[in-house]
Parts: sequence; C-alpha cells; structure tokens
Amino acid sequence: MYIHKVLTFLTALTSVSAGRTPSRKTCVIPASGTNTTDDAPAILHAFKRCGRGGKVVFKPTTYHVNSVLNTTWLKDVDIDIQGTLLWSTDIHYWLDNSLEVGYQNQSTAWILGGDSVRINGHGVGTFDGNGDYWYEWIQEQENTSNYPGRPIALTLDGLTNSVVRGVTFLRSQMWTLAIIYSHHVEFDSILVNNTGNRVDSSNTDGADTIRSSHLTFNNLTVYNGDDSISFKANSTDITLKNSRFYNGLGVAIGSIGQLNDEFEVVERIKVENINYENTLHAVYFKTWTDDQNGYPPNGGGGGLGYASNMLFKNLKVSNMRGSAVAISQCTRFIGAPGTGNCTNSQFQIRDITIAGLKGTTGSSRVTSFQCSAEAPCTDLGMFGIDLEFENGTAAGEYLCGNVKHPRGFECMGEVCVGGSSTGDC
Ligand SMILES: *[C@@H]1O[C@H](CO)[C@@H](O)[C@H](O)[C@H]1NC(C)=O
Ligand SMILES: *[C@@H]1O[C@H](CO)[C@@H](O)[C@H](O)[C@H]1NC(C)=O
Ligand SMILES: *[C@@H]1O[C@H](CO)[C@@H](O)[C@H](O)[C@H]1NC(C)=O
Ligand SMILES: *[C@@H]1O[C@H](CO)[C@@H](O)[C@H](O)[C@H]1NC(C)=O
Ligand SMILES: *[C@@H]1O[C@H](CO)[C@@H](O)[C@H](O)[C@H]1NC(C)=O
Ligand SMILES: *[C@@H]1O[C@H](CO)[C@@H](O)[C@H](O)[C@H]1NC(C)=O
Ligand SMILES: *[C@@H]1O[C@H](CO)[C@@H](O)[C@H](O)[C@H]1NC(C)=O
Ligand SMILES: *[C@@H]1O[C@H](CO)[C@@H](O)[C@H](O)[C@H]1NC(C)=O
Ligand SMILES: *[C@@H]1O[C@H](CO)[C@@H](O)[C@H](O)[C@H]1NC(C)=O
Repeated sequence: MYIHKVLTFLTALTSVSAGRTPSRKTCVIPASGTNTTDDAPAILHAFKRCGRGGKVVFKPTTYHVNSVLNTTWLKDVDIDIQGTLLWSTDIHYWLDNSLEVGYQNQSTAWILGGDSVRINGHGVGTFDGNGDYWYEWIQEQENTSNYPGRPIALTLDGLTNSVVRGVTFLRSQMWTLAIIYSHHVEFDSILVNNTGNRVDSSNTDGADTIRSSHLTFNNLTVYNGDDSISFKANSTDITLKNSRFYNGLGVAIGSIGQLNDEFEVVERIKVENINYENTLHAVYFKTWTDDQNGYPPNGGGGGLGYASNMLFKNLKVSNMRGSAVAISQCTRFIGAPGTGNCTNSQFQIRDITIAGLKGTTGSSRVTSFQCSAEAPCTDLGMFGIDLEFENGTAAGEYLCGNVKHPRGFECMGEVCVGGSSTGDC
C-alpha cells in the first residue's frame, strides 16, 4: 500500500518534469536597440529556428519592426513576449509593402498562423503600432480611413487550437487584431488602447473575426473610437465574456453583405458580462444594401445570408451615446452618401436575444431597428431592460421598421431610414 503510493508519487513527478520539456528548443531574439536597424530579420530567423516544436522569446526590451512579417507556418510553439514590438513610422514603406489579408482588400503588418501556437505576453508584452503617425496622416488624406495598404497591426490567419494571452496592443496602425480562417482559438486578458495622443484614432477596431469559428474572448479591454469588436462574414460559435469597452461603437455584427451575391452568415454568438463606458451602442448590426456600388474596401453591396442565434446577456452601460441596440441595413459606398435603398437588403437578421441591459444613456432610444423590407427582422427579443438618463428618468423608446414577432417589447414608432451607417439618424 505504502510502496504503491510512493511509486505513484514518483511517476507523477516524472511526468511533471517531462511535461516541462526542458529540451524544448528556445530562441531568444536579440534586439538592435535602435529604430535605424530593423529587428524583423532577427525575429523571422528565430521563428524559422524555433517556430516548429520550440519556444521563441522576446526579451524585456524594445524591438523595432521596420518591415513586414509572415509567419503562417508555425506548429506547436510557445511565443513568450516580455517586451515591446514597436512598428516603424515609414508610412510609405507600409503602404507599398503590407501583406494582403484576402478580405475586403485589407492588408497587414504581421500575418501569423499555424497549429498549437501559444502566445503569452504575461500582461507586459506589447504590440505598439506607433499609430499616432497614422492617425495624423489619415486626416491629411481627407480622412480616407480605409486607405489602401494601411496595415492591420496583427492578422491571425489559419490559426488553430491556439491561445493568445496577456498581450497589450497600443495605437494600432489601423484595425488591431484580424482573425481569419482561424478555429478553436482562445483569447484571454488582452488590452487594446488605440486612444490617440495627438489626434483621434480612426478605423482602429479592437478585434475583427472573419471566416472563423470556435473562438473565445475572455477579459478583453478595448479603448478606441471604432468597433470595440466586430464579428464579420462567416463568424460562428463565438463566446465573448467578462469584457470592458470604452469610447468605441460597441459590439458590432458586420458590416456584412458587402460582396454581391455571396452568401455569408454570422451565428451562434454568445456575449455575456460586458461593461461599456461612453460607447455609441451596446450592440449593433450593419449590412450593406442590395445595390452593388463599387468594390471593397470602400464600396460593395448586394450580399446574401443571415445573422442568427445570438444571446447578449448581462450588459452594463454607462453614458451610452446612441441607441442601445441598433440595426442598420443601409451601409453603402462611402463616396455616395444619401443614395441607395435602405430597405432592400436580402441579408436577414433573426433570433437575437438581449437578456439584461442596464445603466445610463444619453439617448432615449433603447432600439433603432432599421430592417429590410425584403428580409424583415424576426424573433428579436429584449428582456430585463433598465436604462435611464443621468437625471434618473427612464429611457424607453423602441423604434422599429420591418420587425416581425418582437419578443418582450413592443415597437413604439417608426425608425428613421436613410441616415448614417450606424443606424442613428
Ligand atoms: C525613429 O524614432 C524617431 C524618434 O522617436 C522618430 O521620429 C522616427 O520617425 C522613427 N523612425 C522610424 C523609421 O520609425
Ligand atoms: C506568407 O508565406 C507563405 C509561405 O511561407 C505564402 O504562401 C503566403 O502567400 C504568404 N502570405 C502573404 C500574405 O504574403
Ligand atoms: C484593392 O485596392 C487597390 C487600390 O484601390 C486597387 O487597385 C485594387 O484593384 C483592389 N483590389 C481588389 C482585389 O479589389
Ligand atoms: C479630417 O477629420 C478631422 C476631424 O474630424 C478634421 O478636423 C479635418 O479637417 C478632416 N480633414 C480633411 C482633409 O477633411
Ligand atoms: C484581465 O486583463 C487585464 C489586462 O487587460 C489584467 O491586468 C487582469 O489581471 C486580467 N484579469 C484577470 C482576472 O485575469
Ligand atoms: C490609453 O492611452 C491614452 C493615451 O496615451 C492614455 O491617456 C490612457 O491612460 C491609456 N489608458 C490605459 C488604460 O492604459
Ligand atoms: C460562408 O459560408 C457559407 C456556408 O455557410 C459558404 O457557402 C460561403 O461561401 C462562405 N462565404 C465566404 C465569403 O467565405
Ligand atoms: C426600396 O426597396 C424596397 C424593397 O425592395 C421597395 O419596396 C421600395 O420600393 C424601394 N424604394 C425605392 C425608393 O426604390
Ligand atoms: C431627464 O433628462 C432627459 C434627457 O435629457 C429629459 O428628456 C427629461 O425631461 C429629464 N427629466 C427630468 C425630470 O428632468
């Protein structure tokens, strides 16, 4: 009996030390220490040596990233980020060289993918996009925020069975974290701060998911002025929980329906325990109209499909700026405002439940549901709603257009049609 226990204990010890795999090949990346020397080649070299079955370590120092990184072929690797990666300010280099993402004509500074990748920033590892330069520059380009070649900070492409934990993103060049063709990935304790130091940031989404499934976001914090997080075409089986969003637009579904005659879906989304401070919405949907007008990134329309089976539970808002929950099916070519038909989209929104939405707002509107007449919204549910103005008066206006079978609320009036793409006119 006693011997048996000792043997069991020894076996356990052996397997613990085996689990630590002291033999795992480790590459500690040297840093040049000056932004006149590009650290990207050293980073790439480390990934080539240790990116399959090993460990790659960024030391507690600053790495200057002056050129694009493509590491899409990783396998069973620990990426340990103890320092800061600081992207260069050579805007013309990035416009000419950023890597194609394969969606909406977007491009990126670093594209990373593979299987069993474990990225850990331990709460200190930082991706600094040096975005202040971009935010000023984009204002000079007549605020064309989707400027061709303007890079997404990090794109996870074809990433599976992986974890991204404890990383901070500061002032991303454009969107922060694009997740495409990725499945079974966990995101934990990520902080995004895209607040500009000199001018406001533009088009700096916190995270965007595309053609991806089985993703979990826990303890995500985003400070920005655009989508806090956005679930786009073919995002399915996603959980977002215990997160905080500041100043941005809230949780976005879309924009979607941008590609003429393409069928796209967003479904099985669960969002729970979210705190919002000074955001425009808590949740909003945006689809393109049925009229195709130009091509991505700034044009498009005519897409098919649906958004369905979503639960938004326990949302707490503070100083909300617009309709708490909004639907607009009126996104259209950026260069042709005021044209197009806002009720002809064939993309349908259905089976969406809000369960628990409380706090303070500056808008009387709980809902602005501007749905399509061609594919009316069905089975929208609003329960446990308790919104009030700062002075304590309840905010309780439910505005709708083309909403069928509302659950837990009654439409009180017609929503405005043809306003801004965010559903608030
Ligand atoms: C290098 O740093 C200086 C000072 O911070 C900055 O002005 C310059 O734009 C940077 N250069 C690059 C290529 O990032
Ligand atoms: C990244 O590199 C892989 C091969 O290693 C290549 O197939 C892929 O096209 C590259 N991606 C981009 C966006 O350049
Ligand atoms: C991407 O945008 C550039 C610049 O506007 C354009 O020349 C190119 O044709 C676009 N590509 C696609 C695939 O739409
Ligand atoms: C861009 O937007 C900013 C802030 O709204 C504004 O001050 C500036 O005049 C705009 N720039 C141009 C060229 O339109
Ligand atoms: C949540 O993430 C923040 C970083 O944004 C971190 O400081 C904090 O410890 C995390 N909380 C938990 C409970 O993991
Ligand atoms: C975000 O960045 C802004 C601008 O630098 C800064 O004032 C603010 O303290 C930062 N917020 C957090 C939570 O780090
Ligand atoms: C989205 O998924 C559907 C299947 O649900 C597929 O038919 C369609 O091609 C996908 N579209 C894109 C743009 O990936
Ligand atoms: C807009 O589309 C709807 C639905 O197809 C149609 O009933 C309506 O007549 C259109 N409006 C205009 C102004 O074309
Ligand atoms: C409270 O504020 C709202 C929004 O500003 C206003 O419409 C309402 O009349 C105010 N109620 C009272 C009792 O002052």
